[in-house]
Amino acid sequence: MTDLRPCSAIIMLLGCAFAVLSSYTPSAEGGTFTFQNNCKFTVWPGLLPNGGMPPLMDGGFELGVGQKRTFDASDGWSGRFWGRTGCNFTGSTSPSSVACETGDCGGKLECSGLGAAPPATLAEFTLASSQSDNKDFYDVSLVDGYNIPIAISPTGNPSTKKYSTQHDASQAESAVDYDCGTAGCIADLNLNCPKELQLLSDTDQSSVIGCKSACEAFQSSEYCCTGSYANPNTCQASSYSKIFKKACPRAYSYAYDDNTSTFTCTGSEFSIIFCPTSLSEENGGGRLTDLTSMRMIIHWWKSCCIFSLVYVIVSIFST
Ligand SMILES: *[C@@H]1O[C@H](CO)[C@@H](O)[C@H](O)[C@H]1NC(C)=O
Ligand SMILES: *[C@@H]1O[C@H](CO)[C@@H](O)[C@H](O)[C@H]1NC(C)=O
Repeated sequence: MTDLRPCSAIIMLLGCAFAVLSSYTPSAEGGTFTFQNNCKFTVWPGLLPNGGMPPLMDGGFELGVGQKRTFDASDGWSGRFWGRTGCNFTGSTSPSSVACETGDCGGKLECSGLGAAPPATLAEFTLASSQSDNKDFYDVSLVDGYNIPIAISPTGNPSTKKYSTQHDASQAESAVDYDCGTAGCIADLNLNCPKELQLLSDTDQSSVIGCKSACEAFQSSEYCCTGSYANPNTCQASSYSKIFKKACPRAYSYAYDDNTSTFTCTGSEFSIIFCPTSLSEENGGGRLTDLTSMRMIIHWWKSCCIFSLVYVIVSIFST
């Protein structure tokens, strides 16, 4: 009778190689960002690295309705992302031109070192490095105003699974988990933006396309937390920042709002979702969960097949 054991060992070896390869991601170092546009309009993400950090995605790209884009960043990368709206780059040639209704960065698709024109909702990151105790830091900031809702959801850590179907940033603050929780803003703050802070569309004066920070609207050190207000004791939440906080309890509403705004996680994989309101549990949320369970299945498969391979090899040599 033919001995089939060497043959099955080879088949298993191939299976294991496939399992290991299929779960391989090029981002074992650094981090992975997935941008998802759940808005009913095109968003042009802008990306600004902090000083000394490499640019990502040339600083900007177009993300159509329902589109998703994933890319990697190096260890310890830090910087900010935002969503530009109402862009048309065809007519903009001079350095001072403006191409987007909100979040413009010098009139160009690729922001190359220029930040967002306020008001703009910002997603801010400092990825893990040995200096940060291997923790990722992230937050959504309305300190420079608000244009569209953005949520940040970590997806690379097993403990984040319970948040993936629960993108409800309006839940009570006490229930927010700042360890791997979802940061950001679900509410459309443009709908309840005080009149004196409203940014109106050039083409339609009845449409609010952004909500300025009180600092930008009134240019006072009290609202900007500058001068004698440049510390957390003198610069406190204002009636305006409280409106922002009420709409977006998981986002920075003013400069010293750290206690309820900064999130940490380890795992370095993040979804940045524009307009998470339409992120229903069956589509976006479900997909995050699918990803996590996919990873668990691959993990389980790897362990199982390595175990059986060892078993087959041992049984060959023990005969
Ligand atoms: C974009 O701008 C160009 C030049 O100003 C104009 O001709 C064109 O119609 C605009 N496109 C859209 C979609 O508004
Ligand atoms: C933030 O929390 C720390 C420690 O829990 C506390 O000392 C500080 O006063 C808080 N800051 C604000 C602005 O609430």
